[in-house]
Amino acid sequence: MIKKSIGFIGGGNMASSLIGGLIADGIDPAQISVAEPDSERRATLRAHFAINVVESAEAMLEEVSIIILAVKPQIIHEVCSNIGNHLKGKSPLFISVAAGIHVADIDRWLGGEQAIVRTMPNTPALIRTGATGLFANAKVSKEQRELSEAIMRAVGVTIWVEREDEIDIVTALSGSGPAYYFLVIELMQQSAMKLGLSEESSRLLALQTAFGATKMALESSDDCATLRRKVTSPGGTTERALGIMLDNKLDETIDAALTSARDRARELAEQLGNQ
Ligand SMILES: NC(=O)c1ccc[n+]([C@@H]2O[C@H](COP(=O)([O-])OP(=O)(O)OC[C@H]3O[C@@H](n4cnc5c(N)ncnc54)[C@H](OP(=O)(O)O)[C@@H]3O)[C@@H](O)[C@H]2O)c1
Repeated sequence: MIKKSIGFIGGGNMASSLIGGLIADGIDPAQISVAEPDSERRATLRAHFAINVVESAEAMLEEVSIIILAVKPQIIHEVCSNIGNHLKGKSPLFISVAAGIHVADIDRWLGGEQAIVRTMPNTPALIRTGATGLFANAKVSKEQRELSEAIMRAVGVTIWVEREDEIDIVTALSGSGPAYYFLVIELMQQSAMKLGLSEESSRLLALQTAFGATKMALESSDDCATLRRKVTSPGGTTERALGIMLDNKLDETIDAALTSARDRARELAEQLGNQ
């Protein structure tokens, strides 16, 4: 159980889902504070979660041991520089959920020598089925690693990476990944409709099939290749469809897609870090 006080900077979507997850996990709402400039949003967070809300980060720096940076990547430079000016020798643990911002840049903006965990969650975190990659800098203690992991586990599964550049691969796989699955589901639905099934039935069957296949793979001790072989009878319909997918180079398409997403994550991190 997390006993430390946690301060969120930014009370938007990602902060709300983390707060919801932490409270559902049994954390006392009195341990949580949020700095959020929008007064309506503050009122909603207070009413919904019974947590402490403040207008700006400086007001809670004294009290919290963990600071979660949950603002948009475009303003994280400004937010960190401001916090850095008010740290007064304090060294809380910083956890960033901001996409594409390097630990070294956050540390420089904060003034240096801070314990920072950079995370890459994905959108299903909003419904507590997320997948998050975490990277810790050398200042992060074992206890702080465990705390970071416990916090992110409140919204889904977690994995650690040892090198920060692996976060770009996490971005290409699970960060952008929900959209790949949305596209595949959308295309399967469209195809079934073209073949004559109603929109409603096509949508339901495409979605439930994606859900059922994923649940089966998660619960099975077989890997996906084995599960695929088990449902592919020689001469059957599945074999015919998979043959078309591979003849049309689905494997090369997926490779190229993830490689370009990884490269774009690198480019964006470079741009955002040059502030
Ligand atoms: N949503 C996702 O699925 C997802 C997935 C992966 C990573 N992330 C990362 O999570 C971070 C937050 O994303 P989000 O979707 O939660 O964004 P969001 O809903 O826009 O939340 C950001 C919040 O921060 C507030 N804010 C702006 N300036 C502030 C300041 N100076 N101090 C404190 N709060 C301030 C914003 O208020 P205003 O609206 O008034 O500006 C807004 O309420 C981003 O860095 C994003 O890369 C999100």
